[in-house]
Amino acid sequence: MKPVQVEVCRGSDIQPYVDRLAGLRLTVFREYPYLYEGTISEEQNYLKMYSMSSNSILVIARDGDKVIGMATAIPLNETSSDYWKIFSDKKIPIDAIFYLGEMVLLKEYRGKGIGSRIYHQLEKLVKERGLYKKITLSEVDRGGDDKSFWKTKGFIKHPELRVYFSWKEIGELKKTRHALVFSSKNL
Ligand SMILES: CC(C)(COP(=O)(O)OP(=O)(O)OC[C@H]1O[C@@H](n2cnc3c(N)ncnc32)[C@H](O)[C@@H]1OP(=O)(O)O)[C@@H](O)C(=O)NCCC(=O)NCCS
Repeated sequence: MKPVQVEVCRGSDIQPYVDRLAGLRLTVFREYPYLYEGTISEEQNYLKMYSMSSNSILVIARDGDKVIGMATAIPLNETSSDYWKIFSDKKIPIDAIFYLGEMVLLKEYRGKGIGSRIYHQLEKLVKERGLYKKITLSEVDRGGDDKSFWKTKGFIKHPELRVYFSWKEIGELKKTRHALVFSSKNL
């Protein structure tokens, strides 16, 4: 069996992967703690942010022809204002921060170091640009569980930095508001 391959794609080259990425997000984010019941069109709309920026990065993990995991990232100052305003409102300069949008890996491939390979590839590319001092990301916060993949990568949680989004949870009729808490790592 061939090992899982990790590849990189940038800027508008991301466009052909948008539908697959949307599908992976919908599959993985249905699970706890997200319980996210999104639609393909909401996903495509959100993912446009990456395919329209020349500075965005997509890391793809492939098992043969099958895409099994992905991570996206973009300079924080190119995200929607929902994200960067959280920092600028607290007088944190945003231009040297890269935002890691998501990392999703199919369940059957987890616990084998593939997530770490994807992350290390992404961090290496951000460092190579020479412009960024931090990587940040936001995660759903349901309290409790302090064990996290991101902690193993050196990220520190900033409970004072949080953004709120509404989405429909699996089995619910209406959207409800959820907090996403930022974690950051100095490069
Ligand atoms: C997060 C994710 C990409 C990790 O991928 P993975 O290939 O399973 O991770 P690895 O095998 O490289 O694990 C690396 C380390 O993180 C730890 N880890 C991985 N997932 C973890 C989790 N959910 N909770 C706590 N620790 C976790 C591992 O125990 C391992 O620790 P070690 O280095 O001390 O041995 C994968 O679990 C996933 O897709 N989860 C669902 C989506 C998600 O939550 N994404 C993150 C927010 S966008």
